[in-house]
Amino acid sequence: MLNIERSKANYQRAQRHLAGGVASSLRASMKPVPLYAESAKGARLQDVDGNTYIDYLLAYGPLILGHAHDGLTDSILASMRKGYTYGLQHEGEIELADLLVKVLPCAEKVAFSGSGTEAVMLALRLARAHTGKSKIVRFHGHYHGWSDSIFTSFPGAGLSGPAAGGETSAVPPGTMGQSDNSLDDIILLPWNDPAALESTLRTRASEIAAVISEPVMCNSGCIQPKPGYLELIARLTKELGIVFILDEVITGFRLSLGGAHERFGIKPDLVTIGKAMGGGIAISAVAGTSALMKYIDSSDVSHLGTLNGNGVAITAALTTIRELASNEGTAYKRMEELLVTLSAGIRALLSKHRIPGVINQLGPVFHLMFTDEREVTDFDTFNKRDAGKYARFAELMLSEGVLLRPNGLWYISTAHSLPDIEVTLLAVDRALGRL
Ligand SMILES: Cc1ncc(COP(=O)(O)O)c(C=O)c1O
Repeated sequence: MLNIERSKANYQRAQRHLAGGVASSLRASMKPVPLYAESAKGARLQDVDGNTYIDYLLAYGPLILGHAHDGLTDSILASMRKGYTYGLQHEGEIELADLLVKVLPCAEKVAFSGSGTEAVMLALRLARAHTGKSKIVRFHGHYHGWSDSIFTSFPGAGLSGPAAGGETSAVPPGTMGQSDNSLDDIILLPWNDPAALESTLRTRASEIAAVISEPVMCNSGCIQPKPGYLELIARLTKELGIVFILDEVITGFRLSLGGAHERFGIKPDLVTIGKAMGGGIAISAVAGTSALMKYIDSSDVSHLGTLNGNGVAITAALTTIRELASNEGTAYKRMEELLVTLSAGIRALLSKHRIPGVINQLGPVFHLMFTDEREVTDFDTFNKRDAGKYARFAELMLSEGVLLRPNGLWYISTAHSLPDIEVTLLAVDRALGRL
């Protein structure tokens, strides 16, 4: 029986003065209680009750080098000793901009911000400035941060989406407190539906500034794009004078050094990157063509942020990217091999326990779902999974010493090892047995 009494007491105590008891709403969903961390190193995290877990939550994605990576920690400490942030320019910004342009195929210029949400806000602004149009096409089941102008359709928000082939223009807000008209500019389409995309883009091209898409539907089932689908977005947007924004906040520096657009060989106009870019320190960026970024050059588009480009965040990104690039990027191959071993092992255990389930995997990330469907390739099928059963599984895994995200998405870091995977598979076997 897992002893998490101190986490339970902390959660009670937190609710006195901390709204919601957690710092980001999603974290409240962890069962049996949101855990309190004491410390973490590599692939392991220790909670305040002294329990140790192999960590596949990885802080919702950023910790691509694992926790408290020695080289990253040393470089951050050295940078802090020189001053945290100056409100002036420093040479690290130039180095990071040069490095991003070198490794991201779509990048001619970049701009820095603090979170994925902010990067998406800037990308939308650039697209509207460039096209003089205001509508944004986004897809059901994707997530692009929590700003009012785009926040809707987040899985779990209980929204009904567009029927296959159709579009939704009266898009409902994703949360209380969002103004009723904040999403008037959003056109919501089903993803991976070429006919719906082509029909909407051709009929409404004169209104549409941008199409924004995750390259892989990581936030809802880790669903891959159909062959040719991202290429179709790229081709139609180019033909119709619409900006193609690829939201690589999860996939950037996770699927490969050049992100999903390198892996899939497509050329969006803009990409947004965050999470893994800073290895766990807050930093994000927009990268793209000079034709779009020139609006920042000319100050026609305002790009603001007190802590943008601060020394600590820039150092963290430089060190993380260089570490990932070292040894010719072999870290990606290794992470992917480990996760293939893990997912194959879990599939075998699902068969052994006669529990129907699906794993969708791409590179160092996968989504495990309990479902009777043979495959999960769209948002509607994803929504048929048994989310409650998965939450119970995640809770059982906790008592087996494995920390999972309660929604089914698993991340891996360069700090995970084959013995970690073997221990995890033994834990999965026991947890499935008890499920
Ligand atoms: C694809 C995508 N875009 C944007 C965001 C928002 O990033 P942040 O939480 O850093 O604001 C997220 C966060 O999970 C994301 O997955």
